[in-house]
Amino acid sequence: MSTARFSKFGFILAAVGSAVGLGNIWKFPYVTGEYGGGAFVLVYLITALFIGVFVLISELLIGKLGRSDAVSMFENLATKNKKFWKLAGFVIVVPLIILSYYSVVIGWILHYIVLSFQFLPSTVEESKNIFMTLLTSDVKTQLFYHTLVFLLVMTIILRGVKDGIEKINKILMPLLAVILSILFIYSISVESFSKAVYFMFNPDFTKLTSTAIIVAIGQAFYTLSLGMGIIITYAASLPKGTNIFKSSLLITIIDTTVALVAGLIIFTLLFDKGAESTKGAGLVFISLPSVFYEFGDMGSILAVLFFVAIAFAGITSAISMLEPTVLYLISRFHYSRKKAAVICSIFFYILGIAALLSNITDYAPMLKIGGKGLFDWLDFVASTILVPLGGILVVVFVGHFMDESEIRKELVPLMGNLLTEIWFLMVRYIIPCALIVVILNETGLLKF
Ligand code: PHE
Repeated sequence: MSTARFSKFGFILAAVGSAVGLGNIWKFPYVTGEYGGGAFVLVYLITALFIGVFVLISELLIGKLGRSDAVSMFENLATKNKKFWKLAGFVIVVPLIILSYYSVVIGWILHYIVLSFQFLPSTVEESKNIFMTLLTSDVKTQLFYHTLVFLLVMTIILRGVKDGIEKINKILMPLLAVILSILFIYSISVESFSKAVYFMFNPDFTKLTSTAIIVAIGQAFYTLSLGMGIIITYAASLPKGTNIFKSSLLITIIDTTVALVAGLIIFTLLFDKGAESTKGAGLVFISLPSVFYEFGDMGSILAVLFFVAIAFAGITSAISMLEPTVLYLISRFHYSRKKAAVICSIFFYILGIAALLSNITDYAPMLKIGGKGLFDWLDFVASTILVPLGGILVVVFVGHFMDESEIRKELVPLMGNLLTEIWFLMVRYIIPCALIVVILNETGLLKF
């Protein structure tokens, strides 16, 4: 495999870059809204800390001890059932599938940056019209931006770990921090800020359903990019002497902070204009643009900053989705980085086009299976089934199939005996059970 390694700071930035994405700035606020605010946030914080950090430690451990591509690491580090674990390594295909439609969504965001310079919709109706037209009939615009994202992501990955991934994260992540800080400071100055704080941090447990708890676990996984071989792959290029316990904590804290800050910004703006938060894609692409309009001239600036922030967050996540399969082709089949990057990129590009067309009214009937379009299928299968499934594989692997003494040698000096025992308990039994419940619930096999 390529020998270039991240610098310590570069590694943290790249991992945070992968973790902080649409999941933080778009999904976290709307699921918080949907599941009742404060109580959901509290459960999410607890899950991020206990499940998120422990699984992150597991993935960093595999990368640090394995130092190869994700598939080979599962095979090499398994103390038994090597054949099965080699197969399990193919979770690396999952991020490539996610990337196909994630790239289309980043495309919508780029389009909205350009739109925000020109005009903002004055009503929710108008806003909905604009978005639905883009989604269901504007093939050209979507294709243009999807192609742009494809070229961008491929070019970055072509340049490798240090000159590509680390460098772009060193540029985009600080910029993202600056933009979010500006938006945050602005929202503090808006009167409804205290309402937003109250909504997000005053837990009303009567609103907390078991589904909300399950959604919080799923969200913690998705937002930390776990269960897909991504963190494992990045960790294979970990600099020597990295403290994987502290790194896991730091990555989780930053990722969570971004989600909370994004939530506060969005709810302040929504509450200030008495707007409803539309579910799903609608929050960012329908509700917010018409809220920005209400802020007058300031609104256009806020809109551009906001969409640029999501675009930056999305791009650094997107590149992390491509690297696992690229590294696999390089290290197992001795492909050049160029050849590997081009092949994997073309795969996600073509799948993305099919996904995009499945939302277009004229093509939708051809790309529909069981009443659901390809776009929705890809999202459903990848993020609700395969990601938690990948998570189960990771924790079962470190908990039951890796050399226990080697794990203790790594973890005890960093976390002490007690915490290491708790970690074993979590990864061996508690987290796999929690994730099985998540999958059963999300597939509708078991409803709570
Ligand atoms: N963690 C990213 C986010 O919050 C999403 C992601 C999913 C990143 C899969 C990489 C892989 O948006």
